[in-house]
Formats: sequence, C-alpha cells, structure tokens
Amino acid sequence: MNEIRIDPERTISDIDPNIFGGFAEHLGRCIYGGIYEPDSPLADENGLRTDVLAALKRLRLPVVRYPGGNFASGYRWMDGIGPLEERAARMDLAWESVESNHFGTNEFVTFCRKLGSEPYLVVNCGDGDMREARDWVEYCNGTSDTALVKLRRTHGFEQPHRVQYWGIGNEVDGPWQTGFKTPQEYARAYTEFAKVMKWTDPDIKLIASALSLWSGEITERAQLLVEQASQHLDYMGLHWYVGNPDNDFNAYMATSELIEERLSSYEGLIRALCLERKLEKPIPIAVDEWNVWYRTRQSKGVPTEQKLEEKYNLEDALVVAMHFNAFIRHSHSVRMANIAQIVNVIAPVFTRPDSLFLQTIFHPFEVYASTCGKTALYVWWQGDTFIGGEYTGVRTLDVSATLDESGKQLVVYAVNRSEIQPQETEVRLVTGSFGENIRVLTVNGPDIKSENSFDTPDEVTTRETMISANGQSFTYIFEPHSVTALVADIS
Ligand code: AHR
Repeated sequence: MNEIRIDPERTISDIDPNIFGGFAEHLGRCIYGGIYEPDSPLADENGLRTDVLAALKRLRLPVVRYPGGNFASGYRWMDGIGPLEERAARMDLAWESVESNHFGTNEFVTFCRKLGSEPYLVVNCGDGDMREARDWVEYCNGTSDTALVKLRRTHGFEQPHRVQYWGIGNEVDGPWQTGFKTPQEYARAYTEFAKVMKWTDPDIKLIASALSLWSGEITERAQLLVEQASQHLDYMGLHWYVGNPDNDFNAYMATSELIEERLSSYEGLIRALCLERKLEKPIPIAVDEWNVWYRTRQSKGVPTEQKLEEKYNLEDALVVAMHFNAFIRHSHSVRMANIAQIVNVIAPVFTRPDSLFLQTIFHPFEVYASTCGKTALYVWWQGDTFIGGEYTGVRTLDVSATLDESGKQLVVYAVNRSEIQPQETEVRLVTGSFGENIRVLTVNGPDIKSENSFDTPDEVTTRETMISANGQSFTYIFEPHSVTALVADIS
C-alpha cells in the first residue's frame, strides 16, 4: 500500500501560472499550416486557424514564446512587419527553409491576444545586434512619437503591444546555433543587450539563455551572467528535451529523477552565486523549452512541412505530467516554463488542412492547467519503487499537490508509472478533513504505446469520475500507466 500525506499548512510557494506557457517557432508547420493559414476555410479575419485557437485555449497558455528557437538567431524582425506584399522572403539557415515573413510581430501579438496569452519575444543574439533588439522593444512598446512608434501606428497598432517578456538569444551555448557564444561572450553580449533594452522600456522582464547543453561550463555560464548582469537578469532560461530512444519504459519513467537533479542543482547554483554577491533574492528559473523529443531529431533533408512532427504516445504523456509535478514541487524557483512547441512541431495539437487531433500530451497539460491551485504544498509519499536506468528506488508514484486561493480545494496529482500494477494508496491529510465528493480526472489509454491520430483521436484521453470520501483519509487505486488529478474540497 502506498501512502500520500499532505499537510495543507506546509506550503512551498505560490505557483506562477506561467509554468503553463508555450512556445511557437517558425519551423515546419508550427506557424504556417498550424497557427496561421489565411487561405483555409477555418481561418478567421486575421488568418488564424480557429480550430487551433479553440484547442489551444483549452491549455490556458498564459505566455507564448516566439519566434524561436534556433530560428531566432538569424531572424530580422523588420522583415516581418508592414504590408505583406512588401515583406522580404529570406533563407532560414536554422531549419533550411525559406521564410516568407507573412507572419511576424503584429500577427503574433494578435494571436496571443486572441488566445489570452502574454507574448514573449526572443531577440536575435546570434547574427543580430543590440540596436535591432532595442528597436524591436521600441517598435512594440514605445509610446513617444519616434519613427519606430509611428511605423507601428501605420501598421494599424495605435496602442503599444506592451510585450513584457523578452529573451536575449536562444541556446547560445550550442555549437548548432548561429552565433554560438562562449560563456564570456554571452555574458558580455547579454549585459549590453539588456542595458539598452531596459533603457528603452524599464518595465520589461529579461530572460537569459543560460543553459541548454547540460555538460561542461554550466557553472561558469551562470557565474559570469550573475557577476556581470545581475541587475538585468529576471530569469535564467533553461532548456531540455527528453525521450525514450532505447525503448526502456522504466528508464523513461525515471525521467523525473533527471528533472529533479537538474532543477535542484541549478537552484542551488543560483542561490550560491546570489549569496556570494549578496543579492537579495535568487534569480528565478524559466524552463523556456521543454518536452519529449527524440523520434524526429534529424531535420536535415526532411521537407519543411514535415519537420519535427513527433507523434506522441501514452508514456510520453506520463513524462509530460512528471514535468508539471516537478515544476509544482519547485514552484519557489521555476517561475515560467514553455512547452516546446504548441502546434504540429513536437506539439500537443496536430493539424491537417481540414481538421486537427489532440496528441496524448495535450491531455495531462489540460488537466494540470485547468485544476492547478495557487499554492504548491509539500507532499510526503512512500510505497512501491522501481529501478529505472541509472536510478534505483524510484517511487512508482510521482506526486505533487496544490491548494487553491481559498485554501479549501486541494488537488493531488499522481502519475502511476507501473505498466501493469494498479497502485492502492492511502491519501491522508495531516490536518483537516476531506469533503464528501472528490472529482477524479484520469488520463489513460489501452497501453503505454497508445497514440492518438486522425482515425483514433481518443485512444488516450481524459475521463472524469467522482468518488466519495469522508474524514481525514481515503483509499484510491491509481490505474496502471495513468495520470490522475484528485480534486477535493477540504475543511
Ligand atoms: O524546439 C526545437 C528546437 O529545439 C529549438 O529551435 C531550439 O531552441 C532547440 O534546440
């Protein structure tokens, strides 16, 4: 029997809703043929696919990062504004494509506003310079009668876009990046870009491209950034992608341990650097690209319209849920996270010209985003364990819990990582008691390799049921290979 114990008074931190963020890049069919398809009968007056908007609204994305990704490191934002017929098509070296620039800043902000999301723009710190970066801030957010602000107005946007989040560069630590930078080079560039961008609009928040290659120079990169630019560092941006290339279910299910290792060591590193420099508050983390991605890594030679079109199965959905558990458990430091990406390209939503289907990973995202409370709680749990790759003693259940604003609704999230064993579990409150009815949301499917598709859109989906409870504890049996949210009133 597993045990989960929760004391509603033992809080970790408030949860930043931005952990449910997304990311859209000019890559494959993410923008063209995904978000934006002006010739489609499904498009609205702005050329945005209405079915895609409706699906994404269910994910409640509070923030969307754009335009890349690797694409950002060669992007000239001025190509993507003004009358469509005057926009220059360019070679995109990152993804070996031709970029029409028919979708740009104003189209993206319009998309975000329709979605109810805040735009997060990444400036080109690859082959771009700081003048371009600060001009982009001015074009978007400026209010004085400058040439750039007037230009925005002539493009139909009288009011500033008020873009709050700005990233400086993308994966600058990767040799695959246009304008790869050594730790020293990036710390210098970040400092200077940040200075002029914040001088242009002091209210913006800046995200550093702190780490994506998880080997070598991890400490040095963080240290130089904190030493040189601490006053302008609003978030340290981390990226990772995980997968199951060896088809080893247990090893894959132990991905939680890797996430824990990365988050806790990076948190510790930032704390130490801030302590050393007597900075009042540690700098938050933005995991501004994360997801499962391993089947479609090779993009060279793949036609643009098929790039990175990963098809997800149930085990991937369990791993996505583990990410949210980790972000909730680390809510004191993880203040933004952006699933990469949102449509077609390694994404929860998959389109064709006349319709779309929801990939398996859509479902845990929707469950967490729609039920997550305002506060993260410490959870103590024990029970069955397994060996997953290099990790031993991994608990079969992966758990987190949140409390809503009123302190009266508790949500317990559990991923059962056993392929065959249901997990009987006592869920106990250390103080207080459960109300009578508990809402249960379960993401599951026939087996761990189940996938959704146009023909079988509901192989993996979310079921809603109710159970009764009373008093301080209840017993619940978590289904094999499932994600469960138990939504309970407590008093
Ligand atoms: O999301 C796909 C790619 O993954 C992004 O362009 C890049 O930042 C990362 O390597």
